[in-house]
Amino acid sequence: MIPRPFAEIASVGAAVPPRAVTNAELSRTLDTSDEWIVERTGIRERHVATAAQSVAMLAAEASRDAMDRAAIRAADIDAIVLGTASPDRLLPSTACDLQALLGAHNAAAFDVSAACPGYLYALTIAEGLIASGQSRTVLVVGAEKLSTITDWEDRSTAILFGDGAGASVVRRSTRAGRGILSTFIKSDGRLAELLYRPGGGSADPISERVVCSRNHYMKMAGREVFKAAVRTMAEACDEAIRRAGVRPDEIDLLVPHQANIRIIEATAKHAGMPLSKVMINVERYGNTSSASIPLALDQAVTDGRLRSGSLVLLVAFGAGFTWGSAVVRW
Ligand code: UT7
Repeated sequence: MIPRPFAEIASVGAAVPPRAVTNAELSRTLDTSDEWIVERTGIRERHVATAAQSVAMLAAEASRDAMDRAAIRAADIDAIVLGTASPDRLLPSTACDLQALLGAHNAAAFDVSAACPGYLYALTIAEGLIASGQSRTVLVVGAEKLSTITDWEDRSTAILFGDGAGASVVRRSTRAGRGILSTFIKSDGRLAELLYRPGGGSADPISERVVCSRNHYMKMAGREVFKAAVRTMAEACDEAIRRAGVRPDEIDLLVPHQANIRIIEATAKHAGMPLSKVMINVERYGNTSSASIPLALDQAVTDGRLRSGSLVLLVAFGAGFTWGSAVVRW
């Protein structure tokens, strides 16, 4: 077995649909206000794709960005692992549609259904594919069109979610010590019905009844989910740091899932990180589920907050419940 780090994140890329929906715009159709949304969530706007923009198309834009930055061609990709909670179709995977768009004909392609930590689950799988010698270069993607599974008449969820995609090229480590130092993923399926889509799957296939009861949309018990997010993201931070064998004060940047500014602040407090060392962009994009971490990573690189050698802690929580974390030497 080759020693860790086996794999590094060579590059990241992002894609966000141009149309931004502000809190003021939502307040015109929902019993809510900019003040309430900003105070309770930190969100000011979220981006929404057009009917013509698919998840695979957003993913392809982000992927091409990442591939250009890592100077790789589509033919170099051995596997595409795509996290999504809003696949374009239930069959086949959105990863296969992405593969076709990119022309990545040498790749195996599949989706990971792990909700908001989808990118971290995909990263963990990519690391394993590389460590086992199955793959040299893996495209790891988180892509969502949550606007299509959001109930725009439900003020408790409609204010939260947005569309977007983030991608990264993950490959065998090229420099000693650079790469993924630890990963941690965990789930608790007993809590599934606190955040879920009751209808539209095989258990209750799409029907007039499902649509009329709005059961094909996401339902969330916000307060319970909030508490679980704070608890599990704290556990995940500790575990990734322990497994990486680093000290908490060595972490240069915390990149948490962007669900709610209050969850981010609680996570940062637990990890002992001042907010100056935390990547926050929830105000611009809202909760983009599996796209959230790669979108934040992309911005951190663009803003110069992540440089070669930086030690970064990634952490996320979502429906399932699922949670996960990673420590990466950039
Ligand atoms: O990606 C991972 C999964 N998702 C999350 O991590 C989200 C976790 N949960 C949250 O972020 C928060 O629970 C919310 C932002 C969803 C809600 O904030 P909260 O502080 O937990 O509010 P609440 O659900 O306890 O509701 C407080 C009040 C209620 O009114 P009453 O019963 O006190 O009269 C709600 O009806 O706020 C009301 N409310 C709203 N008011 C204005 C709920 N949504 C809205 C709204 N605008 N959009």
